[in-house]
Amino acid sequence: MTSVRVGLGARSYDVLIEGGLIERAGALMAPLLPRGRTAVVCDSTVKALHGLQLEASLLAAGLTVDFVVVAPGEQTKSWDGLADVSDRLLALGLDRGDVITAFGGGVVGDLAGFAASIYKRGIDFIQIPTTLLAQVDSSVGGKTAIDTARGKNLIGAFHQPRLVLADLDVLATLPARELRAGYAEVIKYGMLGDASFFAWLEQQGGHVLDLKPEALEHAVARCVQMKAQIVGEDEREAAARALLNLGHTFGHALEAETGYGVALLHGEGVALGCAQAFRFSAALGHCTLEDARRVEKAIAAAGLPTRLSDAQGGPFAADRLIAHMGQDKKAEGGRLTFVLARAIGEAFVAKGVDSEAVRAFLLAEGATP
Ligand code: NAD
Ligand code: GLY
Repeated sequence: MTSVRVGLGARSYDVLIEGGLIERAGALMAPLLPRGRTAVVCDSTVKALHGLQLEASLLAAGLTVDFVVVAPGEQTKSWDGLADVSDRLLALGLDRGDVITAFGGGVVGDLAGFAASIYKRGIDFIQIPTTLLAQVDSSVGGKTAIDTARGKNLIGAFHQPRLVLADLDVLATLPARELRAGYAEVIKYGMLGDASFFAWLEQQGGHVLDLKPEALEHAVARCVQMKAQIVGEDEREAAARALLNLGHTFGHALEAETGYGVALLHGEGVALGCAQAFRFSAALGHCTLEDARRVEKAIAAAGLPTRLSDAQGGPFAADRLIAHMGQDKKAEGGRLTFVLARAIGEAFVAKGVDSEAVRAFLLAEGATP
């Protein structure tokens, strides 16, 4: 088992990474549950596939457990979804000494985490991430949020979990497309800060996608170590944490344009956005074209999109994409902020990027005027 500590003083916690953790979840969680009670928030797909196993583990540890089951999909991460979950937690009589367990992908983690941050002015929560994306990214670091009609993740809170249990075995039931979407976040870590990890993925990425236990544990652990270090240094994204948004300004704009749904999954948007961020970096003279081509090759090798023409819902209008970028939380005073790169493994935050340069780049990428 790999154990990674997220160091945040009194709010520090461990991320445990291994197959079979759900079977041990009850014993691992019990010390954190003062009243021996938890409400597990999960979606109906995860409940059907893995709910019984988690319930058995919690009951065997003598814990009291209630399930709050929501509909799968990004639309659940909404004001209505938050109201519904909060109301059901209240109906269960969950108290401040009880703990919410977020059992699922990033949607459930973000929603249940946000509910925990405001429920009776804030209660503890535990993350049991069940997608690759959630294991390497969203379950670690305490960002919780819902989407609104004005954009994604615009209402939320920083609320750190008390424990993260990343059971690698649950990934076996993940649809291949979701696995690839999570893998986009894995390559992202190499691209943003670890060239040797990126080179390892160029060689071993196929084994990660085939869920070979050793390769998978190495990849998840390396991502979590990097995230833990960044979050430990910059919990509130004043500096280094922004690097985790590599590919997100381009990606979010496309997600917004395609309706945050099955047309383009979040990880697919990140993959395409990372390829664009490197090509944009090359166009601005920050990195070599060779690095941009290597990035594109590694992303495409995983069956992920790298070009606007790979995304459903096109052609995309440059001005509409730029308008979405202006709504992004990272936009400041109308100027755009991007995470760009000097090389693979050397991302940096570029503030005040001229929207005309972005427009010219998008047109060259095949966007319509
Ligand atoms: P998701 O939670 O929607 O899960 C994807 C799909 O996989 C769902 O249909 C779900 O039911 C299903 N699923 C989950 N686990 C499964 C399993 N083990 N077997 C079979 N099916 C399973 O999507 P996601 O990609 O995990 O997360 C995306 C969300 O995460 C977005 O809302 C994004 O904004 C958010 N996010 C948050 C952060 C953060 O730091 N908080 C970081 C990255 C992404
Ligand atoms: N996924 C970006 C972050 O956690 O900061």
